[in-house]
Amino acid sequence: MDFMTSKTRENLMRAFAGESQARNRYTFAQAQLIAQKQFMLADLFRFTADQEKEHARIFYDHLKQNGAGDTQIQAAFPVDEDSCDAVCLLESAAAHERKESCEIYPAFAQAARDEGFAQIAQDFENIAAIENTHGKRFERMAQLLKSGELFAGGESTQWICLNCGYILEGTQVPQNCPVCHGEQGYYIRLDMADWGLYR
Ligand SMILES: [Fe+2]
Ligand SMILES: [Fe+2]
Repeated sequence: MDFMTSKTRENLMRAFAGESQARNRYTFAQAQLIAQKQFMLADLFRFTADQEKEHARIFYDHLKQNGAGDTQIQAAFPVDEDSCDAVCLLESAAAHERKESCEIYPAFAQAARDEGFAQIAQDFENIAAIENTHGKRFERMAQLLKSGELFAGGESTQWICLNCGYILEGTQVPQNCPVCHGEQGYYIRLDMADWGLYR
């Protein structure tokens, strides 16, 4: 299949545009959350934004290596509501991640496989799996925030300050870290401190 007339060329450009925009939306969300002193959630968006940049690069490299040149696409891309608060940012990010991982990239992978671009198909599949973890992580944070469990739990739990690294044990996190005096928003449940746990 000639790459220049393939659906895969278009799909790669759509994916590049989608990843690039997700990276920017997450960076905007990070700034919004920093302003609200929700530093841990801001860091989750930064962490994820950096990964979206890498996804964008992988798709862009395929376009470059196949000599795509100017590539026209027609697609809809999301815009968050103006009044979006922390829960809304997390939920809207989770919904977009889910759409990418469950619908868009599996379809792009199938098209690439049908057109004979096995490596591109593999990359769409691998990145779909990553977006699945992104979606679950955002969703879990939204749940904790909504239920008031982001900084408090029924049982005694260990929490870590992402600013200074202090680990405390208790049923809730104080307003300020006892060691660095940073805001509560720096804290995360220790068992969630490894973002990679959300698979
Ligand atoms: Fe991505
Ligand atoms: Fe993602």
